[in-house]
Amino acid sequence: MHSDQTYEITVLPGTTRDGKKEGFDRIVIRPGDTISIVGPTGSGKSAFINDIEVLAQDDTITGRSILVDGSEPPEEMVRDPAKKPIALLTQNTRVIADLTVARFLALHIRARDSEAQQLVSRTVNLANEFTGEKITEQMRMSALSGGQTRSLLIADAILIGQTPILLLDEIENAGINKERVITCLRRYQKAVIFVTHDPYLALITDRRIIMRNGAVSAVLEPRGHEQEILRTVSGMDLFLWDLREKIRQGDLISEPQESPKKTGVYA
Ligand SMILES: Nc1ncnc2c1ncn2[C@@H]1O[C@H](COP(=O)(O)OP(=O)(O)OP(=O)(O)O)[C@@H](O)[C@H]1O
Ligand SMILES: [Mg+2]
Repeated sequence: MHSDQTYEITVLPGTTRDGKKEGFDRIVIRPGDTISIVGPTGSGKSAFINDIEVLAQDDTITGRSILVDGSEPPEEMVRDPAKKPIALLTQNTRVIADLTVARFLALHIRARDSEAQQLVSRTVNLANEFTGEKITEQMRMSALSGGQTRSLLIADAILIGQTPILLLDEIENAGINKERVITCLRRYQKAVIFVTHDPYLALITDRRIIMRNGAVSAVLEPRGHEQEILRTVSGMDLFLWDLREKIRQGDLISEPQESPKKTGVYA
């Protein structure tokens, strides 16, 4: 387990597709940091977080290196997924194993050498804060929807894996409640990197990494300058979330809807 341990991750620059040095000296990621990665399709966003996931040592296509607590990570951390302080969830993350949800989580708890079996229900409850249709412990993992799977794996990474650093590659389209995920990650002091095309996620993070041509071209730190637009987008997001829920419930949307209000969590 990573229980009380926190880690600092440092990304050292590699090169663009044309072999030029990237636009930063080092990017340091500490507990509680929120970072978004934006940029056109094919600009290298997924490659960036994959480098962190594999703890690259100038051995990937980008030439980046990753330090853990300021030095090269120990060999066993690179090899043993249980020792890696990082969890990566992608657009396509699915669990193929034909197990029930309870069995899957119990296996992971046992693998983590913990006795806390009540963690299963806490984890399912947390996942159900993120997802629309409720997950039950008796459902089969392979029967969960994409959004349910990701919700469960985020809850699993937080409560069972106690992973200090989460990398989330385009999770916004999974129909999971982003605001609740963010609030929860902040509460548990996780460091999180979102690869995203979603303005809400891009605006709510402390830092925004801009990708071009396979490389980081800039790192923006808005430091509160985007609060006003964030409030507007947050209100719009809430409005769309409500509307989406109504449409999902099969409601007819005939009466005029209340216009987007500035009512998000950061209002
Ligand atoms: N610095 C680099 N040098 C060489 N090739 C790179 C570099 N960065 C990324 N690539 C390659 O470019 C391709 C596209 O990168 P990637 O999949 O990371 O894009 P993306 O920004 O995630 O795109 P999408 O928005 O479509 O998910 C990949 O094959 C990747 O290996
Ligand atoms: Mg990608």
